[in-house]
Formats: sequence, C-alpha cells, structure tokens
Amino acid sequence: MPSLSSPTYLITGGCGFIGSNFTLMARQQNWSRIINLDAITYAANPANLSALANDEDYVFVKGSIGDRHLVEQLFEKYKPDGIINFAAESHVDRSILHPDSFINTNILGTHNLLEETLNYWNNIDSSKQKEFRFLHVSTDEVYGSLDANDPPFEETTPYDPRSPYSASKAASDHLVNAYHHTYGLPSLITNCSNNYGPYQFPEKLIPLIILNCLNLKPLPIYGDGQNIRDWLYVEDHCQGIYNVMTNANIGETYNIGGQTERTNIEVVHTICNILDELKPKPDFSYSSLITFVKDRLGHDRRYAINCNKIKKDLNWQAQESFPTGIRKTIQWYLEHPTWIEQVCSGEYQNWIQTNYKKSEGSIN
Ligand code: TYD
Repeated sequence: MPSLSSPTYLITGGCGFIGSNFTLMARQQNWSRIINLDAITYAANPANLSALANDEDYVFVKGSIGDRHLVEQLFEKYKPDGIINFAAESHVDRSILHPDSFINTNILGTHNLLEETLNYWNNIDSSKQKEFRFLHVSTDEVYGSLDANDPPFEETTPYDPRSPYSASKAASDHLVNAYHHTYGLPSLITNCSNNYGPYQFPEKLIPLIILNCLNLKPLPIYGDGQNIRDWLYVEDHCQGIYNVMTNANIGETYNIGGQTERTNIEVVHTICNILDELKPKPDFSYSSLITFVKDRLGHDRRYAINCNKIKKDLNWQAQESFPTGIRKTIQWYLEHPTWIEQVCSGEYQNWIQTNYKKSEGSIN
C-alpha cells in the first residue's frame, strides 16, 4: 500500500538527469511519493529508475507538461501536495541550432503547468492549500556571463540571459514569479550552477569527455578552454531542492552552487588524469586526445554562484568537493557500460555529427 505519511510530489522530467537523481533520493530517503510525468525526449531514460519498478510509491506517466488535459487528469487522480518542475530542454548547443523546442517546453510548457496548478490549487481545501508548493528548477545562466573579477551571481543579480536556452529559462522564471505575485500561487525558484554526476546525458561537457576518452576519440574544447563554470554534484543539488521545497518561505528564490570554479581545460585535464589512473593504457595519456575546436556562438565566459542565502536560511552545504565528486562520477560511468550503450543510440550519433561538424578541424 502507498504510505500515507509522506507527501505526494508531482515531478516533471523525472527521467532526465537531475530529475532521476532527485526521484531516486526521494524514494530512498522516503521524502515523498513520486508521480513522474516525463515526455521521454532524447535525453530522458526510464531505465534510470528501473530500481523503482516494484515501488508502490512511484508512478511513471509518459507525457508532456504542455499537455493540459493530461496534467489536469494527474492533479485529479493523484492530488499532489507539491510540484517540482524539472522538465526542460537544457543544452545550450542544441538551443543555438534549434531554439523552437526550448520555447515550446521551457516557456509554453511551464506556462501550461502553472495554469493547471493554479486551477488545482484554487480548488483544494485551505489546509492543503497552505502546505502546497510549486518549485521551479532553473539555472544560473539566466544571470548572464561574468568577467574574471566580477563577484558571483546573487539572487538579486539582474537577469541578462544570452543564449536561446537561458532566455527561455529566464522567461519561465518570470512567469513563475508572475503567478506568485498576481495569483498568490505558492511558488519557489532555484537557480543552480552546472550539475554533474550519474545519469547525465553525454552531450554535456563532463560525460562527453569521459565517453570520448573511453572510446579514444578527440576531446573537443571550445575556443581557448578558459571559460569558467561552477560545478555542483547532482546529489548536493537534489538535497538543496528538497530543503527549499520543505523549508523555504513562499515566493523565494535560492541559488544553489558547488563553489567550485574551474576552467574547462582544468576539468578536462582532471578527468584525463583520473582515467590515466583508473583505466591506464601503456605509454598513453588521455590528455593527448585534447583537441581545440571552434568556439560556441555567444559562449558565456564565466558563471559563479554566491549561495550564502541557502546556507544561512536552510542550513544547506554542498557535501561533495570537485575532486571527490568527479572521481565518483567517472567511476559510475566506468561501472555502467550498458547505460552508456543505451543512450548512445542513433539520435545521439546524429547530434555528435551535427554539432561537431561545424567546428574547424572537425573532430569526428
Ligand atoms: P555544457 O556542459 O554544455 O554546459 P553549459 O554550456 O550549460 O555551461 O558546457 C560546459 C562548458 O564546456 C561550456 O563552457 C562549453 C564547454 N564545452 C566544450 O568546451 N566542449 C564541448 O564539447 C562541450 C559540450 C562543452
């Protein structure tokens, strides 16, 4: 029987990278029942959650956040106590080539979800209304790009998105805030830095580099490799989301970051060094595969997050340092060759061809 004590959360995008990690943690730690609404786009993988196959407190529903009728039915059937919106198109390079799906999912989809949530929330009893939360998971990229000496992004930093991806996430954040201020919807927003860890689709830097090393393929570094990102281990991020969901005041925004700034070339060298140790090849270093390629259009130079607010208000602190988190991540990929095989299907191969063909000194 489903447990009666823990709340029911409707999770969108629970088969994606961050959503899968959150769902697994939520069930392992009994944070909540989970109803997972996922459209199973190219980056989603239901097999991420195969450990929950016999869990009565986990329900998977295939569908899009843009499907109004389906979302309405889910509210009616499961009567959730909260929603966490992970569903999003999230890869900057794809947004540069094909912005449409970013506008559809991130802006129109979020708007649809907000409308249906508001209808539901307006019609539940007042005690449930008080406890209900709509948490929107967003990105630090909405704040724009920093120069080397700029202070890190704070929750009050003005929005200045610069890619179709970050512009679509900024629009969705504004809609969430608008539904809070206009209609009183009890919403929350989190803006995170670059996540890494198990189950990340290998179009993003860290898993792409790990897989290319394992396949002895060139390691593509955009531009001069000096762009800086702040890296957050995905389980730390999920814990932060849970703290915000359960303890933050409604209408608040929290930045969640790993306080681990690294240039891209440093990240790639770190991965190569760990693989030299864990999967050595005689007279060979993985770093010899490093290949500088043409820069991404409009490439943001630096992201960095000040996460003092979540530390102070919600007693959250990242547990994983970059050296420990990246080692765990590499080990996970080494131990999951079948998962890698599954996700590196035809669609993935097409993407690699399209994205890296445009680079001078083509790498594939
Ligand atoms: P990415 O993982 O795509 O995340 P984001 O663009 O959202 O920060 O990229 C991280 C950094 O790595 C970014 O500066 C772009 C760079 N990068 C490369 O140099 N080569 C690659 O093949 C990819 C995918 C990214």
